[in-house]
Amino acid sequence: MTAVGIDAIEIRTGKLRLDLPETFAPAKGEDPGKYAKGIGIQYSSLPDVYEDIVTMGANAARELMDRRGLVPDDIGRIDVATESAFDNSKPVSTYIAGCLESVYDGDFHHANKGERKFACLSGTQSVDDAYNWIRAGRNRGRAALVIATDTALYARGDPGEATQGAGAVAMLIDEDPNIVALSTEQGYGSADETDFLKPNQQFPSVDGKRSIQVYLARMREALEDYESVAGDTHPDDFVYFPFHTPYPGMVRKAALLGYRHITRNTEVEEALAEDIGMQPREGDYGSREDYEEAIRGYMDELKETRRYQEWYERAIDPTVDISGQVGNWYTGSVHVARLSALRAAIENDVALAGEKLLVGSYGSGAQAEIHAETVQDGWHKEVDAVDVDQQLDGRYDLSFEEYELVHDAHNHEKEVDVDAFTQPSGEFVFTGWGRMNERRYEYVE
Ligand code: COA
Repeated sequence: MTAVGIDAIEIRTGKLRLDLPETFAPAKGEDPGKYAKGIGIQYSSLPDVYEDIVTMGANAARELMDRRGLVPDDIGRIDVATESAFDNSKPVSTYIAGCLESVYDGDFHHANKGERKFACLSGTQSVDDAYNWIRAGRNRGRAALVIATDTALYARGDPGEATQGAGAVAMLIDEDPNIVALSTEQGYGSADETDFLKPNQQFPSVDGKRSIQVYLARMREALEDYESVAGDTHPDDFVYFPFHTPYPGMVRKAALLGYRHITRNTEVEEALAEDIGMQPREGDYGSREDYEEAIRGYMDELKETRRYQEWYERAIDPTVDISGQVGNWYTGSVHVARLSALRAAIENDVALAGEKLLVGSYGSGAQAEIHAETVQDGWHKEVDAVDVDQQLDGRYDLSFEEYELVHDAHNHEKEVDVDAFTQPSGEFVFTGWGRMNERRYEYVE
């Protein structure tokens, strides 16, 4: 069976950044350690006044197409995943295609375009749709462009303000991919939950603490479902475990739970037992409360063991590096986690071709999905070509007062006139509204 998966990847960060420990925490009267250590985000990427989900998505897509020498005829499908859409009817993919058509010869008139919604999960669902379309033989030799793009902004004063971010990830899905091939096996954990939602409002209603519990519960369900088709997982089966990363602190919790699950009944549990005992089994306890207390005790000890910490440093830490520098990109976040890990492998000279990743995606509302990926021979060249450092280092540092202005400029309820902080060059920009209240864009040389 021909491999299908991610052939090329590109990101576009919002061009502004807010230093959370140094700038945001003091203004809120909070301890910087909450951000640097607890939540784990140093900088939030934010969009300049001429940036939005369309410009970031189109700019990432253009970079990817140029690098690979692609023209519109090579693309049979454009799917945008977002939870920041500004239109309930016209999909963002049409805007992005319009932008791209203004700079390329040819058009996307014969490409199928759509928009996917399931909170942060829809980026992965769009990759899946593309995979299925290619596997079904309906692609006529063409590739799919999947663009996950979001401005993760929260209302001022909301606890979620601490985990904001803005950016886009463009991915080319094709046969014989250069970066990773996707597994046919998948696991789902899905339930009607009210942890994070935007009922016809720009900024989310979030129950942050509940969203942590729902994330963990659905992820665990998805892992069990995945194991039911792919067999038991073992910590050594996968070189990295990229998870959806709303903030690195969330992944820290998920990793500990996941490790407990995948080491149960293995030689790892036995080896750990010498120091911290075997994992508690429910049947050995008189009540659910006693059992849960024993689990909490076991987890507290587990996270202090050398064996767990070494696994975390090898398999998890590399996945959250970019997230700690950009914040939450919602639909793009798990794809940023994968890219982060692959970049770390380049830096540390890790040979990856043929190795496996276990990818855990999540969307509030809520659903988790887990699948495996096999790294392909061309991964190094493709990943090395993404100018992540240049983009992250090139961001404009906002003062707190400037941050307040930028937030207002993107608030749909406010009408403020704020000058751009950066100068656009060689990119698509938002220029204002047209006669039917459509958003308008142009390419700036
Ligand atoms: N030094 C070190 N760590 C500190 C600290 C300090 N000075 N102060 C706080 N912390 C830790 C806390 O212990 C906590 O870590 P823990 O959960 O492991 O205990 C973490 O920093 C956050 O602190 P907390 O007081 O819980 O922050 P908060 O009440 O502002 O809420 C979120 C944090 C993440 C819940 C909130 O920002 C939020 O709701 N974000 C959006 C969540 C989201 O996107 N959910 C949907 C997607 S899954």
